[in-house]
Amino acid sequence: MPREIITIQAGQCGNSVGSQFWQQLCQEHGINQDGNLEDFATEGGDRKDVFFYQSDDTRYIPRAILLDLEPRVIHGIQTGPYRNIYNPENFHVPREGGGAGNIWAAGYAAGDSVYEEVMEMLDREADGSDSLEGFMLLHSIAGGTGSGLGSFLLEKLNDRFPKKLIQTYSVFPDTQSVGDVVVQPYNSLLSMRRLTENADSVVVLDNGALTRIAADRLHVQNPSFAQTNQLVSTIMSAATTTLRYPGYMHNDLVGIIASLIPTPKCHFLMTSYTPFTGDIVDQGKTVRKTTVLDVMRRLLQPKNRMVQTNTTKKSCYISILNIIQGEADPSEVHKSLLRIRERRLATFIPWGPASIQVALTKKSPHMPMSHRVSGLMLANHTSIATLFKRIVLQYDRLRKRNAFLDQYKKEPAFADGLGEFDEAKAVVTDLIAEYEAAEDAGYLNPQGPGAAGEGGGVPQ
Ligand code: GTP
Repeated sequence: MPREIITIQAGQCGNSVGSQFWQQLCQEHGINQDGNLEDFATEGGDRKDVFFYQSDDTRYIPRAILLDLEPRVIHGIQTGPYRNIYNPENFHVPREGGGAGNIWAAGYAAGDSVYEEVMEMLDREADGSDSLEGFMLLHSIAGGTGSGLGSFLLEKLNDRFPKKLIQTYSVFPDTQSVGDVVVQPYNSLLSMRRLTENADSVVVLDNGALTRIAADRLHVQNPSFAQTNQLVSTIMSAATTTLRYPGYMHNDLVGIIASLIPTPKCHFLMTSYTPFTGDIVDQGKTVRKTTVLDVMRRLLQPKNRMVQTNTTKKSCYISILNIIQGEADPSEVHKSLLRIRERRLATFIPWGPASIQVALTKKSPHMPMSHRVSGLMLANHTSIATLFKRIVLQYDRLRKRNAFLDQYKKEPAFADGLGEFDEAKAVVTDLIAEYEAAEDAGYLNPQGPGAAGEGGGVPQ
């Protein structure tokens, strides 16, 4: 039984990332630019129906809804090479208009006017699924549409589909340099509240880390969005392989989320991937030695993480799931895990199993492979709180000066004052405290013996 997932892409970033993701999925499943299955890809064995459905004329159509408040990016998709795969009824885009002007409150307010139309699209897609598992939101949190309209939708999805899972791929701004959006701390903080309260799992992709990885690992200085989005779509494709090429475990979203998120609030995940290859990122094509141990070791190196965090003495993994693709056998995995434990390469929380979970999955037979093994790590790590701290700090600085507030005050969410900001800050501050508490042995039982201060475990 397929466990379908409906993808919602909002704003410039969400739609750009989304279009690259669909292109990659089509290539992996042998679906051509018109949605038809290539002759060489009829063997099957994969589960296309998680992300696609078939039209009456048997073409594959993404279960995707594309939303924006300005036409440029969606127009590019509608005239691009993969334009024919999408359901034309699933676009919401005005003919003209300047988007939400990088103001979260404007994007959030636009939610009311698109609500009926978007819910109709979602209901239609949900009714067309046998066993809908949930939704995937692709967006950035720094601008106006992906963050504001995205926040609105997260709230509404919770109301309308309370039993369905919501996972987001959220692009965070580079918090370690001056961003391209001056009000990004406001927009990020306001979005963070919804990501905390209304999503089951958030895969954090940090533009700062993506740019650094493109520069350091792939030797592409000042990468374009097309190049960073190729990194993102590689991550998204790898993170969904266990759903699309199912094995015994992790073959639905709930399985993945349950294995990574032991306590509901700490649901922000970071990723690492190795080795990167791609059409655009030429340098990444260099072939290296790739054994399972090499891959697993590289996945644990902080420099390969798609999030810039500061690790402290106490920071530790809450959980790790490595998705390994290619030629790997279970005994190699077992040996690699032992070696990682001996070398103490990963420190885990003291209150739970200190183990790296591994899923061995198939790779698409239709994609060229220049290396033996590749791997994605999905990890829940307490140091992610340092990213949230930077967002709060930058918010405080801007707010202290009362800078750029007029655009927000004009919108209904701020009609009664700036309470929305204070509430969002309280939620994010609580989240930071939760991650910090998770570093202590007594996290699950704050009054019990050994409540605080014990060191982390190493993997079993
Ligand atoms: P409005 O422009 O206000 O309507 O909102 P929006 O959601 O369309 O804005 P956008 O998605 O452009 O959000 C701005 C943030 O997203 C900035 O931090 C950009 O650096 C980042 N961003 C925009 N496009 C892309 C992209 O294609 N890839 C990546 N990785 N980041 C992007």
